[in-house]
Amino acid sequence: MPETPHTPYAQLDWDDHGQPLSRLYDDVYFSQENGLEETRYVFLANNELPDRFGALGDGEQLVIGETGFGTGLNFLCAWQLFEQQAAAGARLHFVSVEKYPLRQDDLQRALALWPELHPYADALVAQYVALHPGFQRLVFADGRVILTLLVGDARELLPQLDARIDAWFLDGFAPARNPEMWAPELFGELARLSAPGATFGTFTSAGVVRRGLKEVGFTVKRVPGQGKKWEVLKGQFEGASSNPTKPWFARPAWRPPHRSALVIGAGLAGCATANSLAKRGWQVTLLERHAGVAQEASGNPQGVLYLKLSAHGTALSRLILSGFGHTRRALERLHKGRDWDNCGVLQLAFDPKEAQRQAQLAAVFPEDLLINLDQASAEQRTGIQLPAGGLFYPEGGWVHPPALCELLADHPSIRLVTHQEAFELRHENNAWQAWNDDRLLASAAVVVLAGAAEIKRFQCSAELPLKRIRGQISRLPATPASAALRSVVCAEGYVAPARLGEHTLGASFDFDNDDLTPTSRDHAGNLHLLEALSTDLAARLDTHALAPEQMQGRAAFRCTSPDYLPIVGPLADGDAFSAAYAVLGKDARQVPDTPCPWLDGLYINSGHGSRGLITAPLCGELIAAWLNDEPLPVPRDVADACHPNRFALRRLIRNT
Ligand SMILES: Cc1cc2nc3c(=O)[nH]c(=O)nc-3n(C[C@H](O)[C@H](O)[C@H](O)COP(=O)(O)OP(=O)(O)OC[C@H]3O[C@@H](n4cnc5c(N)ncnc54)[C@H](O)[C@@H]3O)c2cc1C
Ligand SMILES: C[S@@+](CC[C@H](N)C(=O)[O-])C[C@H]1O[C@@H](n2cnc3c(N)ncnc32)[C@H](O)[C@@H]1O
Repeated sequence: MPETPHTPYAQLDWDDHGQPLSRLYDDVYFSQENGLEETRYVFLANNELPDRFGALGDGEQLVIGETGFGTGLNFLCAWQLFEQQAAAGARLHFVSVEKYPLRQDDLQRALALWPELHPYADALVAQYVALHPGFQRLVFADGRVILTLLVGDARELLPQLDARIDAWFLDGFAPARNPEMWAPELFGELARLSAPGATFGTFTSAGVVRRGLKEVGFTVKRVPGQGKKWEVLKGQFEGASSNPTKPWFARPAWRPPHRSALVIGAGLAGCATANSLAKRGWQVTLLERHAGVAQEASGNPQGVLYLKLSAHGTALSRLILSGFGHTRRALERLHKGRDWDNCGVLQLAFDPKEAQRQAQLAAVFPEDLLINLDQASAEQRTGIQLPAGGLFYPEGGWVHPPALCELLADHPSIRLVTHQEAFELRHENNAWQAWNDDRLLASAAVVVLAGAAEIKRFQCSAELPLKRIRGQISRLPATPASAALRSVVCAEGYVAPARLGEHTLGASFDFDNDDLTPTSRDHAGNLHLLEALSTDLAARLDTHALAPEQMQGRAAFRCTSPDYLPIVGPLADGDAFSAAYAVLGKDARQVPDTPCPWLDGLYINSGHGSRGLITAPLCGELIAAWLNDEPLPVPRDVADACHPNRFALRRLIRNT
């Protein structure tokens, strides 16, 4: 299991010309003479990007991989060239790995050196938030340009990447100053990730780089350098690509005849999926049985952006860290104070076991993600008296989920069809059809089931082990005294600072109740949760004067899987899967050569449990990456851990 990383930021010095230098490596980020020209020559021209961008047609993409994101100068130059050369419907993917990210203010200062890149630099700086260790996705120009930033050591993170790179920018400080990076493992990864014929450009001509690249199958050519650089290298991958994946988790080979998708369910999962596909030029029908988006679990007035992390780098913990960053960046487009607020979240250390868990987390995660606060500091941060200190997440906060759903569903290529409930799915003439008795509601080449636990009604997904858990929130009118609450406070329950004059208090958990009428019993339970959070806040909210029978609130179903990971990706035909891989029942180590019997064009985005705000938007990107042959936005083992086929596989292996 990969270690949970700890991100130190780049320590910079600034020279007399205002250029950044790395204190650790004692090296420059870009050429001191003319960084722009050098980038354009070494990385853009030597990879023949002007022509390759120009040759991209609508719907086509080019994937660049980079070692060492640094100030993002190479990325911005590539983006600018792409904007100048590529067709309107083409897309650029840029995957870069960075062990020591610059702080946002340093990045801004470094990029201010290049006035002609201002529009691109401003967009990067605006999205350069919540970049914590692991895979972080940033979306620009309405999805035309996508950056997947791997925050951590290239040797640790590149092996987790699932991508086909067309052009490499091999940057990353001179080999003499950074021998750890330019190691045989790195060259092996470059080969594994290269598309046939992938090219590279690099500023160095060091022997270790030439030999390393040749050994793994690149042709290497020395070409004249610029300025003080005598020569630089360019070349092409001519080796054999091998990217072995178990067939049940491999990318389906089937491609839709046209880019049309039917997404069933307009909660966070469906709206996010529709948005990620629409941004990539798909025509999307978003089908919803209610009058609008976000009427069920995604309809609460406030949800909390709270990260339940593990100190052991589990798949769920890494998904949460990537998802948090992605959602947090999407929220920048919403109205702060009304639709969301980054007021911070305090997780109370409510008993010794929780305090111990929190101490472990504080030891492995960066301080700008979470910090341990003693009681006095926690009270100062939250503005109210508390029973204990806890972990404070300064970038967390609350979100009005319907606003996020509306933002995501608002795209000219998304057609929202309301008041239509799909009872049955049929696959005919290469199209998925949604039927309501004998009425055809909609059809498309691809269908994405995003209806939470309701997807079990369809025969093809009936075996997925999804459970509903009823939850109820209570709405508490704000009082002058409750205005003191400055951040979200969580323990077993949660309470948020007021939105439009009301605090949301949540939430009950009930496995046995199917009735969504709010109950006074659950309101009373929520008031109990509030007492445990802060008796001071309960008093400020005058809760002793509140009768549970009179309280307002709403109930909905969470939808969870047995391993608490969402279920995201393509699905196989259950019976054919059991037949194809029956041998696993006898020997679980076998990897038969049999292709997976996919249900061509059928995808799932469900099971977001109690944290859909954090996982659902990124999982929309994951579905789009599966469908468009793009770099996955999460590590390969995280995508496998979320894969819909995992349950059928476990059933076979356990003979159940
Ligand atoms: C009380 C409560 C508190 C929560 N608090 C938080 C929190 O603080 N933070 C957090 O991150 N998460 C929280 N969650 C979880 C979060 O709300 C969910 O994870 C998220 O909303 C799930 O989104 P979804 O799109 O999968 O499901 P839903 O929002 O339930 O959307 C599914 C949609 O599909 C539609 N649909 C289903 N079947 C069909 C069909 N056959 N035809 C047409 N339409 C169909 C439904 O009508 C519905 O609109 C909470 C959930 C609850 C219930
Ligand atoms: C010369 S700078 C890159 C300049 C950058 N491409 C730009 O456009 O500004 C080299 C970068 O590589 C990063 N780096 C060095 N070793 C690394 C490693 N092992 N893994 C990931 N990044 C590394 C450094 O932190 C630094 O930001």
